Amino acid sequence: MAKTKSVYFCNNCGAESPKWIGRCPVCGEWNTYVEEVVSTKSAAGGRGEFGTMEQSKVRPQRIDDIQITEESRIDLGNGELNRVLGGGLVRGSLVLIGGEPGIGKSTLILQTVLALKGQKVLYVSGEESARQLKLRAERIGGNAPDCYIVCETSLEDIFVHIRNVDPDIVVIDSIQTIATSAMESSPGSVGQVRECAASLLKFAKQTNTPVLLVGHINKEGSIAGPKVLEHIVDTVLQFEGDRHYLYRILRSIKNRFGSTSELGIYEMRQNGLREVSNPSEMLLTQNHEGLSGVAIAVTIEGIRPFLIETQALVSTAAYGTPQRSATGFDLRRMNMLLAVLEKRVGFKLAQKDVFLNIAGGIKVNDPAMDLAVISAILSSNMDMAIEAGTCMTGEVGLSGEIRPINRIEQRILEAEKLGFKRMLIPQNNLKGFDTSRLAIELVAVRKVEEAFRQLFG
Ligand code: TYD
Ligand code: MG
Repeated sequence: MAKTKSVYFCNNCGAESPKWIGRCPVCGEWNTYVEEVVSTKSAAGGRGEFGTMEQSKVRPQRIDDIQITEESRIDLGNGELNRVLGGGLVRGSLVLIGGEPGIGKSTLILQTVLALKGQKVLYVSGEESARQLKLRAERIGGNAPDCYIVCETSLEDIFVHIRNVDPDIVVIDSIQTIATSAMESSPGSVGQVRECAASLLKFAKQTNTPVLLVGHINKEGSIAGPKVLEHIVDTVLQFEGDRHYLYRILRSIKNRFGSTSELGIYEMRQNGLREVSNPSEMLLTQNHEGLSGVAIAVTIEGIRPFLIETQALVSTAAYGTPQRSATGFDLRRMNMLLAVLEKRVGFKLAQKDVFLNIAGGIKVNDPAMDLAVISAILSSNMDMAIEAGTCMTGEVGLSGEIRPINRIEQRILEAEKLGFKRMLIPQNNLKGFDTSRLAIELVAVRKVEEAFRQLFG
């Protein structure tokens, strides 16, 4: 019988320890270590032998001698995905697509591989049966003669299928469902996830075949989440959005072959995901003319500017404690902005319920949203609408000053392109900026009070 041994892994960062520790010395998190039983025989023998055998094949090369072939990236045919990956899928790379269950990871990948021309794909599913995948494929409506589906959870068997099919791209959906016999722990545990990903990485590098991994994350992070994998893989893409809304954002969190500021936007439809190449139009469809509590923010997510609607509702607290809630915006930041309004503009908001909502269920992290958030709150509080055709951008500081923001030019041009007539921007952003050719009227503001006067007279 193989001797077994326990190893402890950190659930958060994947660090390994021979004994249990309360606080991870690597990532500093508390109570994240979990026990995993490994079979000493296979753990020591398996990968080690494979490693020594392969080492002799690889020779160190001078960096000048390394050839980069033209077709080192595969065009996935999906504009948003290509861009987020930095211009296509790099051959030999290991890409992780993480996201909460049900967000649409499988749909995105299946849809992409079904539309691929001239690439042989092996889609390994550990979650759905071949029949379910076929039904989904029919729903999405794509036909790819070179797409092979296999339902398999054993890593060793997956490698056998790969050898038989000899694909150009391998998809593993999901990494949490596959397991290697080298470890005794169950699929989805930190050890298994790490071990399987490491083997797949080795496969990808040696055969120059790209591997796409799907990884689930849940809010508690109780299963071995993609966090553990982040160190191993080349690229981490996160698929996010509110399941009850239509829009999904694909964000690049780590990319060894491109920038991490890229972002893709999709809309979930009955027949799969649709790329949204002009996000502003979709986020501004409703006509809110004359309604109070609505402000249009000019924001930048990734490298693309877009305009998004910010809605606020301020009402007298019905119960003793006022309620504060924010969807798509950091609640602590909203509380800070409310304190600024209270102290600097003299609004009595302490006894008011304040609800804030960013359109489309999209989470925005841009500090330039501040000015729109404040304006929406003020507009709702006074029940006065902001004039139609007005948009704004700017960060608000603790003393009520409007601070300059990055890439103002892109933002202004986007607002102008969409036909906005007036835009509030931070005064400091106007320095050295040529406004003569602009059709949009720029209103430079230095303080929250000034913005207030400009908007509500
Ligand atoms: P799925 O790709 O299974 O999510 P994940 O792999 O991230 O767990 O997506 C599941 C959701 O997407 C499901 O709730 C149904 C919805 N959906 C559509 O709205 N339209 C479609 O065409 C498809 C295939 C799924
Ligand atoms: Mg899935």
